[in-house]
Amino acid sequence: MTSNQPQNPVSMPGRDRFTSGLGVLAATLGSAVGLGNIWKFPSLTGANGGAAFILVYLISTLLVGLPVMIAEQMIGRRARADAINTLRKLAGRDRRPWWLIGAAGCLAAFLILAFYTEVAGWVFAYIFRALTGAALSTDPDVTSAAFSGLVSDPTQALLWQWIVLILITAIIIMGVSKGIERVTKRLMPILFGLLVLVCIRSLTLDGASEGLTFLFSPDFSKLTGPVILTAMGLAFFKLSIGMGTMITYGSYFRDDQNIPATASRVMLADLLVSMLAGIAIFPAVFAFGFQPDAGPSLLFITIPAVFASMPLGQVFMVLFFVLAAIAATGAMLSLLEVPVAVLNEQFGFSRRKAALITLGLLALVGSTAALSSSTLADFKILGMTPFDLFDYVTSNLLLPLGGLFVCLFVGWAWGWPEVRAALTNDGQLGNARIARAIFGLTKFVSPVLVLIVLLNGLGIIQF
Ligand code: TRP
Repeated sequence: MTSNQPQNPVSMPGRDRFTSGLGVLAATLGSAVGLGNIWKFPSLTGANGGAAFILVYLISTLLVGLPVMIAEQMIGRRARADAINTLRKLAGRDRRPWWLIGAAGCLAAFLILAFYTEVAGWVFAYIFRALTGAALSTDPDVTSAAFSGLVSDPTQALLWQWIVLILITAIIIMGVSKGIERVTKRLMPILFGLLVLVCIRSLTLDGASEGLTFLFSPDFSKLTGPVILTAMGLAFFKLSIGMGTMITYGSYFRDDQNIPATASRVMLADLLVSMLAGIAIFPAVFAFGFQPDAGPSLLFITIPAVFASMPLGQVFMVLFFVLAAIAATGAMLSLLEVPVAVLNEQFGFSRRKAALITLGLLALVGSTAALSSSTLADFKILGMTPFDLFDYVTSNLLLPLGGLFVCLFVGWAWGWPEVRAALTNDGQLGNARIARAIFGLTKFVSPVLVLIVLLNGLGIIQF
């Protein structure tokens, strides 16, 4: 090894990797951009007062999200291992069970996929409904009945979820560079193109400005503890952090990848997609006199009615749901990769077997989410259906906790010399200042913020 080669302490011959800087960007952005931008961001913004919510979300993204994303990618690349082994390897002689971060991450990935694949299933179903015109009506009562018809029919709900599960499992089996990288590299540009088209349509409607006002002028009276926790949970969910996704993807990064630069680009591009999704949705919602605060059903009840109200609506509705399906696919690949990498590297299953085992388990756990509006509608845990419970527990609990412990590990157990070496690629990059700032944030700022918001949002401390 010559002196100007990056001196990564662990090299793993035969382990798959992303093949180019662009590939890293496509896969990582593909993970970040997802139903979080198209389904969660608009519906949460709509239900929690618009711009003020976005502002808290932005602050969480900058002070917590970005540093945690960088921290995760950096430790993943250092260890070049799955989420559990990464923590094990790097903790070295430190006896504390840091690997639990990876194990909890696997659990979180499962629970997220359990409800995410169901929503993705609805999105896929809506592409076909848009094509046949079946979901189009200007009357929200009609679109609402159409949506209930889909979710309360156990056969359809399960069928669409399984279609989605089989699709993502097939791509995962193809591998990291030949599956994930190849697919996301093709799909991401299409997603951006479609999104811009739908935005132009929405902005050129009469009365679009009211929606923009809603998106950009804040009303701070809506900001309570739980709302702030929700905004922070969304920041974690959006950036795919707090559960090992970015650790796992980081382990496939190239040695010469500039991690802070990559993560910042992904964060900004992801934000752009969220704002564009807001711009695609809210001006149109207001232009046709609908309410923005429909919550999770915004996408499937309000949006079809909005599209039905506009000229060429059917075409734009097809485009919109295709772009949502693309977004969901890249995100699900990154979620599925976490348990698959663990089964593959910890337990020695082949990639194919690991993917099929995960598929089987997911079909089982996921079906409880799929049946939450039909067979299991009355089955409540803590007052929530399995679907809502998986969503709440992961976003508002597991992800913030995972992020908190990643910060504690990097800031307090791993330490500055390692962080500097990891972020400057062993001195190859002039990143030392940025590395310092990120180290300071992960050591002192992010963990304190996460803890306060978590405790306050759960009602454990009040102020
Ligand atoms: N970020 C994706 C979205 O916005 C979802 C996602 C993918 C995710 N991987 C994750 C969320 C890991 C949390 C953790 O839709």
